[in-house]
Amino acid sequence: MNVVLLGPPGIGKGTAARLLSERLGLLHVSTGDVLRANIKQNTELGMKAKEFVDSGRLVPDELVTQMVKSHLNMNKTDKGYLLDGYPRTVAQATALESFSGISHMLNFLASKKTAVERLAGRRTCPKCNKVYHLRHVPPEKENVCDECGTELYQRSDETPSVIVDRLRVYEEETMPLVDFYRNKGLLTEIDASPPIPAVLEQCVKALEG
Ligand code: AP5
Repeated sequence: MNVVLLGPPGIGKGTAARLLSERLGLLHVSTGDVLRANIKQNTELGMKAKEFVDSGRLVPDELVTQMVKSHLNMNKTDKGYLLDGYPRTVAQATALESFSGISHMLNFLASKKTAVERLAGRRTCPKCNKVYHLRHVPPEKENVCDECGTELYQRSDETPSVIVDRLRVYEEETMPLVDFYRNKGLLTEIDASPPIPAVLEQCVKALEG
């Protein structure tokens, strides 16, 4: 089972992907996480990607496709994987078809207001990548990761102006993928507005049904 998760920034794709990967034993591949790790380690890829990620623009297709390809090659899995953040353009989706089949596409839907509220309240652990929300998923101790005790941070692409740009980029460059996958009969719509357990159940039903 190879699954693509699609939806605007902050809608909850990463949160659902982490829980689904634990529940179904699928490999979670988050292109955003891989890019941020490369930026932190100052790799060649990280240096090329930094200005795009910080400004909310898309990293060039060839760079991201090469990154996903090698990530999948290095992390072989029998059960399949969840692609969280890839593909994001029709060119990426076409490239993906040349090296992997896709069995499902889950399209996360909620209002822009919900996405912005979730992004504004998100806090992330820089060490273990665990994601919190000030209101919906607060850490036990304010601003400290429950898992590893590290101080939480706000991502560089979570400022109000970058959030607006990311939403625009999503509408212009990524939304065409909805029809791309609908035409292939792979799309299931997920109502991403309710609390996390209800979103997760819809995803499990779509994948197991
Ligand atoms: P990426 O990291 O992929 O960002 P994104 O897709 O914009 O998505 P986010 O991680 O911001 O949000 P999410 O939907 O995963 O929400 P989350 O689960 O965290 O990409 C970052 C950048 O990298 C891009 O802008 C681009 O520059 C580059 N990039 C990445 N992939 C690329 C590609 N393929 N091509 C080119 N460039 C690429 O949830 C958000 C918050 O809400 C959290 O606090 C969470 O706790 C909370 N929450 C989640 N679900 C719920 C719920 N149901 N109820 C209440 N709260 C919830």
